[in-house]
Amino acid sequence: MAQFPKGELAPSDGLLPEQAKLNAEQRTFHAYIHVPFCKARCGYCDFNTYTAQEIGSSSQSSFARDLVSEIDLSRQVLEDSGVVGRSLSTVFFGGGTPTLLPAEDLIEMLQKLRSVFGVEADADITTEANPDSVDEVYLLKLKEAGFTRVSIGMQSAVTKVLAVLERTHNPDNVARSVQAAKTVGLFTSVDLIYGTPTETIEDWVETLQQAISLDTDHISAYSLIVEPGTKLARQIKVGEVEMPDEDLHAQMYEVADELLTKAGFVNYEVSNWSRSVETRSKHNVAYWKSMDWWGFGPGAHSHIGGVRWWNVKNPAAYTDRLRASLSPALERELVDQANQDIERVMLETRLAEGIDLAWLKSKGFGTQEVISNLIASEVIDGGAVFQGVVKLTKKGRLLADYVVRELLG
Ligand SMILES: C[S@@+](CC[C@H](N)C(=O)[O-])C[C@H]1O[C@@H](n2cnc3c(N)ncnc32)[C@H](O)[C@@H]1O
Ligand code: SF4
Repeated sequence: MAQFPKGELAPSDGLLPEQAKLNAEQRTFHAYIHVPFCKARCGYCDFNTYTAQEIGSSSQSSFARDLVSEIDLSRQVLEDSGVVGRSLSTVFFGGGTPTLLPAEDLIEMLQKLRSVFGVEADADITTEANPDSVDEVYLLKLKEAGFTRVSIGMQSAVTKVLAVLERTHNPDNVARSVQAAKTVGLFTSVDLIYGTPTETIEDWVETLQQAISLDTDHISAYSLIVEPGTKLARQIKVGEVEMPDEDLHAQMYEVADELLTKAGFVNYEVSNWSRSVETRSKHNVAYWKSMDWWGFGPGAHSHIGGVRWWNVKNPAAYTDRLRASLSPALERELVDQANQDIERVMLETRLAEGIDLAWLKSKGFGTQEVISNLIASEVIDGGAVFQGVVKLTKKGRLLADYVVRELLG
């Protein structure tokens, strides 16, 4: 079987190597659609997204048309590569800000996925949204077209913190957009960020309380990552703003878990809490379980059977390739079995259901001594180990990277 070094150029027809089709029937299939447009760029964000000033508005108006041609291409590539056909278990529109596009455009892309692959009857169909970019009329159209869930970027309830993040949304619109989504019958999630420069523990508690009062089905809370090349990274470098220390981050995580648990949310992945199993992000769970997904759109990443590839980032280059009947895939890598096993440990250890101990042992991970030490330091649950599963304790969730390093040895 051909081996590709990391980041080898992808072929212009997008054809996948042999590995992609192996045991495909044992994996579920998912679609991610990347919509690379935002009204303004937040200072901390390095996602592949562009404002109208940067690329003009015409690429937004033709976006759905080009994207549906990638859907046609993906079907052809999968068939020609011998990957077994499966209908979609989840569809996720992310960005960028998908809801900057007219609802009709999102619906057109979803309908195309339905007609080309089929979408399972109980599929989660989610869009991310900024609080200013949706109202009841918009969300009703999505609901009627089969969307099931909207994930709203709240980040913080505190004006000062939103200003440091350079979030432009009106904080009042968070409650309005969540309410609108609930009214039309969509499941709701809000994304929060903690550990922003100047944010105090009181600010964070205020944010959590407001998020809880929205009565959403799901909450994600991620610590702010300083991404190289962002405005935030430059501000920190010149001393304009100062990142809070790790102890405060840890304290904020603990407060989040405490308040969310008290409010009836259950933690199912280190940074994710849900009211019930039904309202978990099934799309993200598929990523964490290394299922198959096709990422459509500029810069989107795909993963089929350990073959990873990513599209050209620039929207104009993406369009040019598709209009010339070429694959928009730029580079790819073939993840060998040993690295797939390492990835599995890194991802599944973070899930509340834990990772199978017998499988770990069969791969040479987590010796008896390591497991005993992790139990003694109270970062994994001794009772669960007895039942054959390695599960993080609450303390372990704060030290998840350490636990993974120890398991990998
Ligand atoms: C890329 S955004 C797309 C959705 C939408 N535009 C929004 O901002 O909510 C998805 C999530 O990633 C988060 N995010 C982006 N950059 C981040 C960073 N450096 N650290 C932590 N979270 C980040 C955003 O705050 C947002 O909640
Ligand atoms: S709105 Fe979302 S995607 Fe756009 S720049 Fe801000 S965080 Fe990034």
